Amino acid sequence: MRRTPEQLAADQTGPAPAIVTADLSGKTLILVGANAGLGFEAAKHFARMNPARLVLTARDEAKGEKALAQIQSATGYTKAELWIIDLANFNSVISFADRAERELDRLDILIENAGMMTYEYEQVEGWEKTLHTNNLGPGLLAIRMVPKMVETARKYLVNPRVAVVSSDTHYWTEIEKEIIASPNILATLSSKEYCTQEVMHHRYHDTKLLNILFARALQLHVPSSPAITVCAVNPGLCFSGLLSGIPTDSEVAEALRNEREELAFTTEEGSRQLVYAAIGSLDDEETLRGKYIQLSKVTEESDFAISEDGMIVQEKIWEEMLEIFGNIDPKVSEVAEVYLTKA
Ligand SMILES: NC(=O)c1ccc[n+]([C@@H]2O[C@H](COP(=O)([O-])OP(=O)(O)OC[C@H]3O[C@@H](n4cnc5c(N)ncnc54)[C@H](OP(=O)(O)O)[C@@H]3O)[C@@H](O)[C@H]2O)c1
Repeated sequence: MRRTPEQLAADQTGPAPAIVTADLSGKTLILVGANAGLGFEAAKHFARMNPARLVLTARDEAKGEKALAQIQSATGYTKAELWIIDLANFNSVISFADRAERELDRLDILIENAGMMTYEYEQVEGWEKTLHTNNLGPGLLAIRMVPKMVETARKYLVNPRVAVVSSDTHYWTEIEKEIIASPNILATLSSKEYCTQEVMHHRYHDTKLLNILFARALQLHVPSSPAITVCAVNPGLCFSGLLSGIPTDSEVAEALRNEREELAFTTEEGSRQLVYAAIGSLDDEETLRGKYIQLSKVTEESDFAISEDGMIVQEKIWEEMLEIFGNIDPKVSEVAEVYLTKA
C-alpha cells in the first residue's frame, strides 16, 4: 500500500480509536520504554487492567522510579516493577533477558516500544545508534524471550504476544537494490560510508521498516504450535519526546513540529494502539499474526515491504541478526536450535 499525505491527514484528524481493555489478572507483561511518551501512557492503561506482573523498563533508574510513582498514583496499581534495559547496549539486553528467564514464571505479552530518532551519525558497539536501539537491541530481546513465551503457551494454554512498535514512516522509505545485494545488509546500512546526511534523514524510517520485517520474520520462525502472535503497530503521529533528538534549528525539524502541531494525537491516544497490539482482537488471534496494525485495524504494509525485495530483506536480516546475536550471546544459538524453525 502507498500512504499519501492526504490519507495521513485524514487518519490523524479523525477520531482516535477507543481504548480496548481486557482482564489481565494472572498475566505477565513486559513493556519496554515505559518511563516516557507512549510507553508511559500505555503503562497506565495496562496497570488499570491489573496484571499479575507488569515489568516496566527504563534505561535510567531515576527516570524509571519517577514514572513508576506517577503510574502508581494515577492508577492505584502497586505491583509495577522497574527493570533497567538499554537497547543500545548488548550486555544490558543480555542481562535483562537472563533476569527475565530466571525471575518470570511466565510471559504473556512483550511490547517492544522504546525507540529513538536522530539525524546525527553515531556508532555504539560498532553499530549506527538508531539501528542498534530500534532494531538490534529489540531483536535480541525478542529472540531471547521466545522460550519463556513458548513455555507459557504450553503450560497455561494461552497465546502469548509480541508487539513491535513501528510507524507509518515506513511507507516513505525502502532499502536500495545495491544494499540488498550487499553481503551483509545490516552492516552496510550501519557503515559510516553509507550513512551520508541524506541517509541519516530517513534512517528512522528505515528502522521502522525493519521493525515490520523483523516482526514478520519472527512470526514465520516461531513454532506454529503452541502459537505465539507477533505483530507490528503504528501508534500514529503523536506528541511525545521522540523529536528531542532532532536539532531544534533545522528546517526539517521546524516542518516536523508544524506537522505535529497540526495533526498529532495526544500521547494517550497514541498509546491506545500499543494496547491494541498487545490485547486487541483476542477472540480472533490469527488475524494479527505477522501483521501491521494502525488505527486498531490490520493494514497492508508499504509496497516495498510486501514486494519480492521486501521479502528478501526480511529473510536476510533475520539470518544476519541470528548470526550477530549468536556471536555475542551463546544462548541465542540454543534458542535458534530448540525453538526457531529454519526458513
Ligand atoms: N510519537 C510518534 O509520533 C510516533 C509515531 C510512530 C511511532 N512511534 C514509535 O513509538 C515508540 C515510542 O516513542 P515515543 O514517541 O513515545 O518517544 P519518546 O517519548 O521519546 O519515548 C521513547 C522511549 O524509548 C526509550 N529509549 C530511547 N532510547 C533507548 C535505549 N537505548 N534503550 C532503552 N530505552 C530507550 C526512552 O527512554 P529515555 O526517556 O531514557 O530516553 C523512552 O522511554 C518508538 O518506537 C517510536 O518509534 C512514535
